[in-house]
Amino acid sequence: MDATRYALLIAHFIGLAAILGPFLEQWRSDVKRITQTMVWGARAQLITGLLLVGVAEMNDYDVDHVKIAVKLGVAIAVAGLAEVGAKRTKSLTSDEPAGKVTTFWWLVGALTVVNIAVAVAWR
Ligand code: HEM
Repeated sequence: MDATRYALLIAHFIGLAAILGPFLEQWRSDVKRITQTMVWGARAQLITGLLLVGVAEMNDYDVDHVKIAVKLGVAIAVAGLAEVGAKRTKSLTSDEPAGKVTTFWWLVGALTVVNIAVAVAWR
């Protein structure tokens, strides 16, 4: 069961990288986009996170349900914002304001960092 937990935790970190990698890559771009990699990263965080909770429960590890509820709420917001932001990214044209997706880009990146802070600092 430890091997399953490690595999899921590694996938959880890859999902995190898939969100923050493209986010940071665009830091200095004038036009921000929500890429498909970010969308799949956000989806992966929800799936791997819930599976990690399942594995923890099966092993009788102590799971802090309030912490998990907060992480789940933030992760749902990240995934929802990524989905909508990606749709808006697809409809971006050269004559549209550059800021159209910027708010989504900011919120996805910032809320992901919030979830990292919750993951590591909430003990
Ligand atoms: C954007 C979304 C998310 C981010 C950025 C994120 C980030 C992280 C990070 C950095 C860790 C490692 C913490 C450490 O080992 O000290 C972690 C662990 C964990 N996360 Fe997430 N997480 C997200 C979503 C979720 C969701 C939605 C759930 C469950 C509903 C979840 C459940 C867990 C669990 C159970 C662990 C502990 C794994 C273990 O040590 O066995 N995460 N998360």
